[in-house]
Amino acid sequence: MNRPDEVWKKEDLARGFIEHVRSAIPMAREQIDIMLKVIASRVPAECSFIDLGCGDGILGRAVRAMYPKSTAYFLDFSQPMIDAALEKAGPADDRLHFLISDYAHPDWTAGVRDAAPFDLIISGFSIHHQPDERKRAIYQEIYALLKPGGLFLNLEHVAPSSPWAEAVSDQLFIDSLWEFEQKRASGRTREEVATEWLGRADRAANLLAPLDDQCEWLRQAGFSDVDCYFKVLELALFGGIKPR
Ligand SMILES: C[S@@+](CC[C@H](N)C(=O)[O-])C[C@H]1O[C@@H](n2cnc3c(N)ncnc32)[C@H](O)[C@@H]1O
Repeated sequence: MNRPDEVWKKEDLARGFIEHVRSAIPMAREQIDIMLKVIASRVPAECSFIDLGCGDGILGRAVRAMYPKSTAYFLDFSQPMIDAALEKAGPADDRLHFLISDYAHPDWTAGVRDAAPFDLIISGFSIHHQPDERKRAIYQEIYALLKPGGLFLNLEHVAPSSPWAEAVSDQLFIDSLWEFEQKRASGRTREEVATEWLGRADRAANLLAPLDDQCEWLRQAGFSDVDCYFKVLELALFGGIKPR
């Protein structure tokens, strides 16, 4: 593994995220609820969509639960993550597709080009592993894969506005992770949870960009109606529409 983001290819990191972190993300349920409301407001039920950097497919599964006739492309570069997405997706269905692909390289689009254009592309806590120039290019690539009228939503870890805001965000995460541990009666102390959060293996792989910059990159890529639909400290749901 040469790139910091490739830590996600490790079985233990993938499993740790899925089992101990994902549901403990502050306001995780609310983020998904808002995402679904935004999608329901303009994406047809028989849509086709990509979940980019899908992990265990939590976001794509939520869309499928709302729209069972949708066609889903779950894409991730981590074999353990794609295995988890496959397992959690339920019985095989010709509307479910799983792709191992690395969007660090522009040729990732070749794997989905035959299925394009898409009504919807979603991504959760993933694109922030790319350098800013690549983030901008990925937004352009996503734009090219969407139908006119299609929607892109990025639920993302964005840069804090100051060291103070970063400290507040860390405390929010630690409180939320600790609450999760208490519900599981794991016996772990808040200090242990805090040490693990602040020293986590994927932290070095985070290349966080400010929300405002990212919204501007979406506008420059051609998206209209660019907005942030939900934000709490470093967690933001933002996106836009490809004009008809
Ligand atoms: C923090 S996890 C989030 C997973 C899921 N989207 C969620 O909301 O829970 C980040 C995911 O992005 C994937 N990922 C990171 N960089 C990637 C890349 N260059 N290409 C494809 N997947 C990537 C990781 O393997 C991991 O599954």
